Amino acid sequence: MSEDSTIIHPAHTVSGTLCVPGDKSISHRLAMLAAVASGTSAIDGFLTSEDCLNTLAAMATLGARVRREGNRIEVSGLGGQFAAPRQVLDLGNSGTGLRLLSGLLAGQAFSVELTGDASLRSRPMQRIKEPLELMGAQVELLGENSGAPLRITGGGLRGIDYALPVASAQVKSCVLLAGLFAEGETIVREPRPTRDHTERLLKAMGADISVDGLTIRLRGTAGTDVALKACSRSVPGDFSSAAFWLVAAAIGEGRCVTVDNVGLNPRRTALLDVLKRMGAEVVTQPNESEGAAEPEWEPSGTVSVEGRRLTATEVGGDEIPNLIDELPLVAVAAAVADGRTTIRDAKELRVKESDRIAAMAAILAAFGVPVEETPDGMVVEGVSLPRGGATVESRGDHRMAMAAAVLGSVADGPTTIRGTACIATSYPSFQEDMKYLAENGGVSP
Ligand code: S3P
Repeated sequence: MSEDSTIIHPAHTVSGTLCVPGDKSISHRLAMLAAVASGTSAIDGFLTSEDCLNTLAAMATLGARVRREGNRIEVSGLGGQFAAPRQVLDLGNSGTGLRLLSGLLAGQAFSVELTGDASLRSRPMQRIKEPLELMGAQVELLGENSGAPLRITGGGLRGIDYALPVASAQVKSCVLLAGLFAEGETIVREPRPTRDHTERLLKAMGADISVDGLTIRLRGTAGTDVALKACSRSVPGDFSSAAFWLVAAAIGEGRCVTVDNVGLNPRRTALLDVLKRMGAEVVTQPNESEGAAEPEWEPSGTVSVEGRRLTATEVGGDEIPNLIDELPLVAVAAAVADGRTTIRDAKELRVKESDRIAAMAAILAAFGVPVEETPDGMVVEGVSLPRGGATVESRGDHRMAMAAAVLGSVADGPTTIRGTACIATSYPSFQEDMKYLAENGGVSP
């Protein structure tokens, strides 16, 4: 088997207790904001996946002093004033890395070029160009189809009052990070609630930020004299990584998985509501030390899921941004549920690391699951046992590869997944963790 393919065997059970690696969204934001702040931040539990290491390397290229030992990093920040890089900054596969960093760089009085891999270069960037140019930066989209590479010439920003045309935490964060350097107030209005890690972290680091419902206001410093305090934190496990095991448990009667010390930010955990609706047993327990001292920091705790016979459900509306990265797993649960599941309002899935509606529909079809793509989602008819012997393609998308592995664990024969090297962008120990949880099955030795 080539290094880029993996065979998954049906598992007698997927059960046990584990911790998953640190949250990807929080790790990206900590790396960036620690580099902006004054002083040295020490961060434990940093996600050392390819995506986050690319962001960390970019911050070092911009002049921050970065030390790393395992998953602990120390970043000495620059007080808002980056060094103009001589090279192009390469953010690899990461939309979060590229879009958030663009916001920070819009505040710097120099020109800089950012790029990424073929997947990232194919993703929409007009959505950040528009607000950053309204603030006074110049953003040139140098790639095909108005994508990356992009050249940003920043400095002299002014605050804007901006209604996001798409519910996107990346675009929201890009505008807020640029707002740090802008003159006056930057206001961002969200159409639906999206993950709020940027707002929480900015507050924890002393930024002048307030949130009222779906409206966020931030007062900038009109230049690079940004007064953010260094911040030492421990990153909770990534709920989106835990989700693979929670769904692996939910889809098999008698399976039970517990994930300790995982992020439980309510803007990330809508998958739990969906699994409950479908009939799985879900229990969450907040970490005890949480709360009073730092209410703005991220909630975390333990979550357990026990498998039951699942029934179909409908997913759409405000729920979507709060489980956007877990929608492929909702499709996996739907594949074995009784009845027809409908996912709607999720056209953003078409512009993720791959077109996740098309990629997921192809994976389900390969397992013999009746599925119909719609422009903004899919309709899935559950089957009692997905067909084994399937060969599926990840399309270079980490979450497609891992979602296929989870479905393969309940199929009636082995599954070959082509293109599994991409798993390292977010969850480098995924196969190891699957071996640990999957009894008499899981990943080929
Ligand atoms: C992310 C936001 C989401 C999500 C992505 C990470 C973030 O993207 O899909 O994996 O860290 O802000 P959008 O904000 O573009 O929906």
